[in-house]
Amino acid sequence: MNLSGKVAIVTGAGRGLGLAYAQALAGVGAAVVVNDVDPAAAEAAVALITEAGGRAVGQAGAVGGAEVADALVRRAVTEFGHLDIFVTNAGVLRDTVLWKMTDEQFDTVVDVHLRGTFTCARAAAVRFREQGSGGRIICIGSPTGQVGNFGQTNYAAAKAGIVGMVRTWSMELARAGVTVNAVIPVAATGMTETVPFLKPYVDALAAGEPLPPYARRELGFGGPGEAAGLIVFLASDEAAGITGQAIGIGGDRLALWTHPTETVVEFADGTGWSADAIAKVWPDSFAEHLQTVGQQLPEPPK
Ligand SMILES: NC(=O)c1ccc[n+]([C@@H]2O[C@H](COP(=O)([O-])OP(=O)(O)OC[C@H]3O[C@@H](n4cnc5c(N)ncnc54)[C@H](O)[C@@H]3O)[C@@H](O)[C@H]2O)c1
Repeated sequence: MNLSGKVAIVTGAGRGLGLAYAQALAGVGAAVVVNDVDPAAAEAAVALITEAGGRAVGQAGAVGGAEVADALVRRAVTEFGHLDIFVTNAGVLRDTVLWKMTDEQFDTVVDVHLRGTFTCARAAAVRFREQGSGGRIICIGSPTGQVGNFGQTNYAAAKAGIVGMVRTWSMELARAGVTVNAVIPVAATGMTETVPFLKPYVDALAAGEPLPPYARRELGFGGPGEAAGLIVFLASDEAAGITGQAIGIGGDRLALWTHPTETVVEFADGTGWSADAIAKVWPDSFAEHLQTVGQQLPEPPK
């Protein structure tokens, strides 16, 4: 891969997955605007990239509202002349069950992930349409948004919403030659270090030990750098025909997610469906096809 001459913005790139994405994009020649709400983390990331021979500038700010999104695009253009790739990665968690979740916890997560993805993608779309030379919008979802997760009302809403927006934007921006995809990553970062079923593998990685195949294949779990190849691929000319997709990455696993689709359909021709008619058809036609919720993880090896 060679992205020389391309200009990318990565939000939340001071640490974790965002840092890995920014390093990988810079590693194949892209100039990168590194955003983070934490200015010191953004500057440290820029130092890492430039010390490795890459091109990067830091632009601190809290992703959410339009001002930061628009400023990021302006910075890319004033610093590097144009914009080609926008990765909307910044994220926070405020986990708790529905009946304990405060409005503030809900709003904080929705603001950073959902509104932040919307304002950043809109700023990118405006610029890409002005430039007239296509572009890439790469948004970050989560398994939680795809299938739900205990204690993550706010995060599930935001991440499912992001994939919904991605499908819509892929249609709206097709004529402009802009692809829009969602990446569904899993990796050892500050965000996953407290997840109980991942804890042994986070500890193993921290100790420099290799992860067992169960973690790498079944859980799709590894270091943040192992999710970055998909970002570079989607940003490249190789992926010009790929849009509107949700693609999972992590450890040894690369996966294409389905979009929701009707799985069982019955018709009540000419009459429509009364409650009694539904009750009659339900046990034989629908009952055995009810959908699972949450991640269905295979048993770990004994
Ligand atoms: N780690 C995983 O397994 C995993 C799984 C699914 C999805 N994700 C998603 O990947 C993205 C990155 O997560 P991570 O695991 O690297 O988390 P992380 O906590 O390690 O890094 C997130 C970064 O975003 C920054 N940030 C937070 N709010 C911000 C804001 N408003 N504006 C700008 N920067 C902000 C933080 O300072 C931090 O540097 C998130 O969108 C997350 O939801 C991660």
